[in-house]
Amino acid sequence: MTIRVGQAGLGEWGKNLARNFADLAEVTWLADPAEGKAAEFHTRYPHARWADSFDEMLEDPELDAVVIATPVPTHYELAKRALEAGKHVFVEKPPAMRGAEIEELCELAEERDLVLMPGHLLLYHPGVQKLKEIVDSGELGEVLYVYGNRQNLGTFRTNENALWSLGVHDLSVLLYLIEEEPIEVQAHGNAFLSKGVEDVVFCYLRFPSGKMAHMHLSWLDPHKIRRITVVGNERMAVFDDMERERKITVYDNWRTRTGDIYSPTVDATEPLRRECEHFLGLVAGEGAPHRAARDAILVVRALDQLQASLETVTV
Ligand SMILES: NC(=O)c1ccc[n+]([C@@H]2O[C@H](COP(=O)([O-])OP(=O)(O)OC[C@H]3O[C@@H](n4cnc5c(N)ncnc54)[C@H](O)[C@@H]3O)[C@@H](O)[C@H]2O)c1
Repeated sequence: MTIRVGQAGLGEWGKNLARNFADLAEVTWLADPAEGKAAEFHTRYPHARWADSFDEMLEDPELDAVVIATPVPTHYELAKRALEAGKHVFVEKPPAMRGAEIEELCELAEERDLVLMPGHLLLYHPGVQKLKEIVDSGELGEVLYVYGNRQNLGTFRTNENALWSLGVHDLSVLLYLIEEEPIEVQAHGNAFLSKGVEDVVFCYLRFPSGKMAHMHLSWLDPHKIRRITVVGNERMAVFDDMERERKITVYDNWRTRTGDIYSPTVDATEPLRRECEHFLGLVAGEGAPHRAARDAILVVRALDQLQASLETVTV
């Protein structure tokens, strides 16, 4: 079955999605109002039609699915219109900016039996898959706490803060590993560069089982760190995306015990390719169609609550 895909948003990230979808499916429509995009993308994808508006592509009854890679504040509205038009939707992260909005999108998708998949790229990273496998196997014992570090210098964003821009990645992984919804969240941060846009955010989350999690998010930092650490009551494991070879390290050290440290092999497939394949598989009827959207509810709800906490304590 060839799936016909239309894509809105062909910016820095969108062009990567278009490249993958063009390899894996039939890209029949493209849309981006920015000057020069139509000519640039017509050269790359001469068989795709250019839509002057998002609604124009939605009117095509032959179109199966829509990919949304536009700026974050537009996601909810565009995803809603696409679902209402009966199209399956892949929407970049975060799929919405309010818990109530993502719940509404999910209900719409379920009612119409459509796929709604958020672009939680890290969940398709073979290193994260391996970490999940290790956690679920019980090798670490009981998980006590998990924390994420996502720091670097730049890109300084002005329209979304470090929580929404960086935190969505780590949060999707923390919730995937812990499989619980937090009962308490707190965020502290500060806007040093652009008024009202926090560059540095520290988040704390506590879960019903007593597990806790933390995230250090910053684009104003001398270190480039992309790391998730899981501490269990028997072993500890680290996913470090800055490592070329040893993406995962397991430490058999616990209190006074000094054991082995090892790095299991991690498959090298590009996460984005796996993510696009997963979406097309769901559209083709493989796997649980509503699982990804249900997971997105937890992520957006937690982001929404963390943002509320940030606003109460940010000076
Ligand atoms: N998964 C990841 O790792 C990852 C990485 C980077 C960005 N992203 C996400 O991808 C999305 C796009 O990011 P980017 O860096 O490409 O941004 P960008 O600003 O480079 O591109 C956005 C594009 O969308 C276009 N656009 C705006 N409104 C539109 C509309 N109504 N219809 C069609 N096109 C429209 C703009 O003209 C622009 O070309 C964001 O949601 C971002 O969070 C995800």
